[in-house]
Amino acid sequence: MTEERGPRIVLGVCGGIAAYKAVEVCRLLVDAGAHVVPVLTKEATRFVGALTFSALASEPAQASLWDEDTPIPHTRLGQSADLILVVPATAHLMARYAAGLADDLLTATLLATRAPVLLCPAMHTEMWEHASVRENQATLERRGVGIVPPAVGHLAGGDTGAGRLADPQEIASRALAVAARGGSPAAARDLAGQHVVVSAGGTREALDPVRYLTNRSSGKQGHALAEAAARRGAEVKLVTASGLALPADVQPAVTRIDVESAADMETALHALSEWADIVIMAAAVADFRPKVAATRKLSKEDGLPELVLEPTPDILQGLVAGRHPGQVLVGFAAETNDVAERGRAKLRRKGVDLLVVNDVSAPGAGFDHDTNAVTIFGADGSTGEIALTSKDAVAHAVLDRVIAHQRQNRSSK
Ligand code: CTP
Repeated sequence: MTEERGPRIVLGVCGGIAAYKAVEVCRLLVDAGAHVVPVLTKEATRFVGALTFSALASEPAQASLWDEDTPIPHTRLGQSADLILVVPATAHLMARYAAGLADDLLTATLLATRAPVLLCPAMHTEMWEHASVRENQATLERRGVGIVPPAVGHLAGGDTGAGRLADPQEIASRALAVAARGGSPAAARDLAGQHVVVSAGGTREALDPVRYLTNRSSGKQGHALAEAAARRGAEVKLVTASGLALPADVQPAVTRIDVESAADMETALHALSEWADIVIMAAAVADFRPKVAATRKLSKEDGLPELVLEPTPDILQGLVAGRHPGQVLVGFAAETNDVAERGRAKLRRKGVDLLVVNDVSAPGAGFDHDTNAVTIFGADGSTGEIALTSKDAVAHAVLDRVIAHQRQNRSSK
């Protein structure tokens, strides 16, 4: 998104009765200053005329991959979009998108983009609850696609149930929030009411009052997680061994607890465990510490100190042992080799719901960078790869997975 214009939003419209509500979404977005390009499926034009969208949007509506005036329209649309919003998303569109089909302009555009994608499904309750639609939704969410869930209400044909398109006003505000941030599509206030605890930074294990053992962790990823959770409406407690500052606008939503050693961090986290719905252990906790920390500064005159180490407590293990039902626990791991194998094994060993593995040997990823590349392993067997991107985008992707995990847990009960 450039500064001199509003966000550029491709508004995909599918063939469902709720297509008429996409007209209202289009108008709301244009009124809010967005540049809206409507892309209609062939079926959508059975419900609403392309002319209606052309009259209201910023550019004429498009419906064909095969327009002689604009060759390869899908790449132009996909590459220039700040957001692709689909209203309504039918079961058919979700299936084609999940399967990677690109047989019309809208599906080809969805594949030819790196912009966030937000789908607003609308369909009959039976279709919405069908196993294939549930699975396609889970697949798309795992890939970072945002879903504005349908509401419960009157449906076409006089039925009532889940499947009614979300309110156009809600869709428009969520779309504008995502486009403005340029980050994860799921980023609305979807963590409102939840208590999130994040640990961050590398712990410092004292040798004497002025010296310590530590590691290369900067705390940037943990702080990005705390910030992202706060922006998504959570109440956050950040237990940090990093001196990084949080942006002023999120500070009211984040209680910061500064700690130094693994022992301090353990005390702080155990005290918060009962309160937390979600615990994210992004801290690089020292595995070893000096068995004895000198109470006065060691001097050269004392001769070479003898460094005897002992293991620190495994904080995450303690949290897993004391977890309460429904609590989601996320671990992090830094690995340099055999990421998939080591990640899966560590997920099982640690007993967490999700394990986020940094390949710290990859260029631009891991310690002290502003970017990161991770693989997120789920206890449900899922694997999600997040290619090199900002630590903010990684934070949102992790939170998207946490929310998807909570949904899966709720629906399996
Ligand atoms: N962790 C912890 N307490 C420790 C060490 C690690 O809570 N004393 C947490 C980290 O915050 C991270 C996860 O455990 O979320 C995995 O950390 P890692 O160092 O990769 O795990 P280890 O079990 O120490 O594995 P390794 O032997 O590979 O270092």
